[in-house]
Amino acid sequence: MIDQITINRILDAARIEEVVGEFVHLRKRGVNYLGLCPFHDDKTPSFSVSPAKGICKCFSCGKGGNVVHFIMEHEQLSYYEALKWLAKKYHIEVVEKQLSPEELQSKNERESMFVLNEFARDFFKSCLKKAGEGMSIGLKYFLERGLREDTIEKFQLGYAPDERDAFTKNALAKGYQKDFLLKTGLSVADEQGQLFDRYRGRVIFPIHGISGKIRAFGGRILKKDAKAAKYINSPESEIYSKSAELYGIYFARQAIVKQDRCYLVEGYTDVLSLHQSGVENVVASSGTALTKGQIQLIHRFTDNITVLYDGDAAGIKASLRGIDLLLEEGLNVKIVLLPEGEDPDSFARGHSASALLDYLRKSETDFIRFKTEVLLRDAGDDPVRRAKLIEDIVESISLIPNNIIRSEYVKECSRLLDSPELLIQKEVDKKRRKYIERLRQQRGLRESPGTEPAYTPAEPLQQPIPTQADAQKKESTPFSPYDEHERNLMRMIVRYGEQQINLDKNLYPEDFRPTVLEFISMDLENEEIEFQHPVYKLMYKEALAHHKEPHFVAERFFLNHHRAEISLMAGELLSEEYELSKIHSRFQVVVEEKDRLHYLVPQFLEELKWKIVKEELAELRSKLKIAEQNKDESTLRDLLEEIKILQELDKELARSLGERIITP
Ligand code: CTP
Ligand code: MN
Repeated sequence: MIDQITINRILDAARIEEVVGEFVHLRKRGVNYLGLCPFHDDKTPSFSVSPAKGICKCFSCGKGGNVVHFIMEHEQLSYYEALKWLAKKYHIEVVEKQLSPEELQSKNERESMFVLNEFARDFFKSCLKKAGEGMSIGLKYFLERGLREDTIEKFQLGYAPDERDAFTKNALAKGYQKDFLLKTGLSVADEQGQLFDRYRGRVIFPIHGISGKIRAFGGRILKKDAKAAKYINSPESEIYSKSAELYGIYFARQAIVKQDRCYLVEGYTDVLSLHQSGVENVVASSGTALTKGQIQLIHRFTDNITVLYDGDAAGIKASLRGIDLLLEEGLNVKIVLLPEGEDPDSFARGHSASALLDYLRKSETDFIRFKTEVLLRDAGDDPVRRAKLIEDIVESISLIPNNIIRSEYVKECSRLLDSPELLIQKEVDKKRRKYIERLRQQRGLRESPGTEPAYTPAEPLQQPIPTQADAQKKESTPFSPYDEHERNLMRMIVRYGEQQINLDKNLYPEDFRPTVLEFISMDLENEEIEFQHPVYKLMYKEALAHHKEPHFVAERFFLNHHRAEISLMAGELLSEEYELSKIHSRFQVVVEEKDRLHYLVPQFLEELKWKIVKEELAELRSKLKIAEQNKDESTLRDLLEEIKILQELDKELARSLGERIITP
């Protein structure tokens, strides 16, 4: 556990726009920042960061919270780990004891795997520097390929000795469990159940996740062995999904944001060579076709991608397939075709850094020009093939989510193919309609046919397609009938709990100046009302226990609270827009919520009471029905009496609330 004082120190130091900005490209919008949401497939920026409030929130998927929640969600860490992450970033000391192998066991599985991978990285790194095999084979290979020591160090490259179980033996001796050796894939079991090393006689490339944790390894063979694969990689695991990771992203992400562009290459060595030449905003898809997840990862940092392709026929064919997916995700795509026989690695090695940058800048082509040129070369004058080509390009254009960019490409395409713009526009529209229809079906949008046009020419894909999170949000059943009312009160407590209310002097004694929290608690106690919602209940109890402490500020108290459910809820309540706060006074001056506490707080209390009365009335009425059926005279009389009293209360509350609503 970290003590509350340290937690406060961490939270005071951590600036939310800085922390979020490490992962999301933020643009300033007024007092807030806006970027693409890292938690869902976001094509238009819906992730808002408020430095003033210290919170962030996605208006589309609802994820967010304070700086700790952001890190928890983003890095998939526990509350405790997230605090440690922030402490490290802001150089705040958190005293902790070294973990023993026994404690290691009790840590959760993912964490253990990360710890083991770190150990493996260090093992492979040290092997690379050892005299003998490591230096004479491993290091020699890297140096011969033109990698500098600082690059090797930065990317934490290593070497796995050509032995059966050098690594496994070492790890077992250090107390690492068999289970995790197998789960990370660092070791493999033979038929007798004996473990041996997955990587033997290979140079090692650790694969870092976005926050720098090692999720997997790649190993390249050095011997000429026709039977063995050139590269082997960690298997899919709890902490590694090949299709979701990009090699180099950890080292590239800040450069990507700064340059507002990402270079995409194929392999490990391409990333290393370009990086070493000064092009640091580069990542690799690791040989396989790009996936949606990988593209979204890039899109979190920039809208602009430049794909580097080898200048051979296979490279070109591969490029055309990948482009559509990039367009579909709303990226602006440029292509650089390297001279024949070169790949990014060889090209970077053969040129100076400035020549490389020059080449990248000069030869980058727009995807549409690129695709048209490539296909035109193939089609020649054959009219059938030319028609097919137009269709191909139209297909690509139709995938672009942004209307304006799409129509720009229609113009460009019409110029390049010397074909009427209107005709192309029509074809694009047709394809887009079909595409959206397909999307809707895939995502299982429940829609009665004919109620809503499947296609709106104005802003097609702009209506967000419901995500899983949306679905969950809608399906989450209220805890009690009072949720909404309790929420209003809790929002007042979180936002203004420590502030005094200026109560109406005609209704309350002059010297009665309670805080919002005191006012609410007195009233609830009087009426013997308790919060039903478990989180509100907890928050209320905590607030009452601590509000007398010096310097108590509700907002800070809740947001920094060590119980994640409390701070998370506080973040939600703080970021919530409250429509009444926009109400205008009779003189058309906007009255801010904080200046209307004397009015809002009593109103919310009365609304809750009114709701309680209504619920009780409903219950009594159903009891009444049963009593009538049973002809239970005495119960009937009692019930009617109770109902009468509650109806009076009901009327009274309605009148009082009605008056309030008329005269704010
Ligand atoms: N790759 C992989 N697994 C394989 C083959 C390839 O993960 N079995 C990935 C690696 O990231 C590799 C990239 O695909 O870097 C490209 O493969 P390739 O062109 O064969 O390797 P290079 O990186 O060019 O390696 P080298 O130049 O050392 O031959
Ligand atoms: Mn290569």
